[in-house]
Amino acid sequence: MSENTSPTNKQIILESKAITRNFGGLVAVNNVSLTVNQHEIFGLIGPNGAGKTTMFNLITGLIPPDRGELLFAGQVISQLSPHEIANLGIARTFQNIRLFGELSALENVIIGGHLHTKSNIITGVLGLPNAAKEEQKIREEALELLELIGLGNRSQEKAKNFAYGDQRRLEIARALALQPQILLLDEPAAGMNPSEKHELSEFIRNLRDRFNLTIILIEHHVPLVMGLCDRIAVLNFGQLIALGEPTLIRNNPAVIQAYLGDNKND
Ligand SMILES: Nc1ncnc2c1ncn2[C@@H]1O[C@H](COP(=O)(O)OP(=O)(O)OP(=O)(O)O)[C@@H](O)[C@H]1O
Ligand SMILES: [Mg+2]
Repeated sequence: MSENTSPTNKQIILESKAITRNFGGLVAVNNVSLTVNQHEIFGLIGPNGAGKTTMFNLITGLIPPDRGELLFAGQVISQLSPHEIANLGIARTFQNIRLFGELSALENVIIGGHLHTKSNIITGVLGLPNAAKEEQKIREEALELLELIGLGNRSQEKAKNFAYGDQRRLEIARALALQPQILLLDEPAAGMNPSEKHELSEFIRNLRDRFNLTIILIEHHVPLVMGLCDRIAVLNFGQLIALGEPTLIRNNPAVIQAYLGDNKND
């Protein structure tokens, strides 16, 4: 319905209003205000320690802000629990992969789907029909997601046995099982070789279109970010130093000095 990309008709799905988060004396995220539009692939870049993951932790409710407010589709979410925020439709992957290594690929994705289930523990325990049906549906959807990431024929293998790139995709599948509106990806290409990175880029774009997602991407690999993102925000020492389309970011002197000029360029 709202696939419109005209500048006058963009819908804001996520808003950060002057968000600040301190850790002891360190200001990890400093007065950051930005908006993310629906259906956008939004890049979040900056040097190590710039506050990118902290921003994701704030958005997903893992930590509360000290000051400021976060809004999802106009609703204030900054005081909600991670579970409540996930249920509203914000899912993420982690910079350090957080799969259950001893569980199968399928079970890992099913866990993501369970966050979304409407059956509660009681109906589940009593084995009531609705719960069984929902269980079956979650399982089928999980299998479809495994197909999508190319692991359909390895659904029973333990997560810990997958190659690094496959584990990263498995985390994405688990996040998708939540049926989110916003998907936050924290360095999904880390540790991938150049051809895997290229494939991942295509994959992310396809996900956005197929599931009508908004995607926020933290990534150090500059060519990937520049090629994939509609807009990019640059953090440096917790502060937002630039925000705009890739070409603007690429030519911004403050960004070049803080980030693009260093050895991360490839
Ligand atoms: N839970 C925490 N307790 C204390 N300090 C923290 C915590 N989380 C993050 N920090 C600090 O906040 C700053 C920002 O960290 P953050 O992980 O957000 O950076 P980043 O931009 O994701 O960096 P990287 O590119 O290395 O992943 C760093 O100095 C980090 O050490
Ligand atoms: Mg990080």
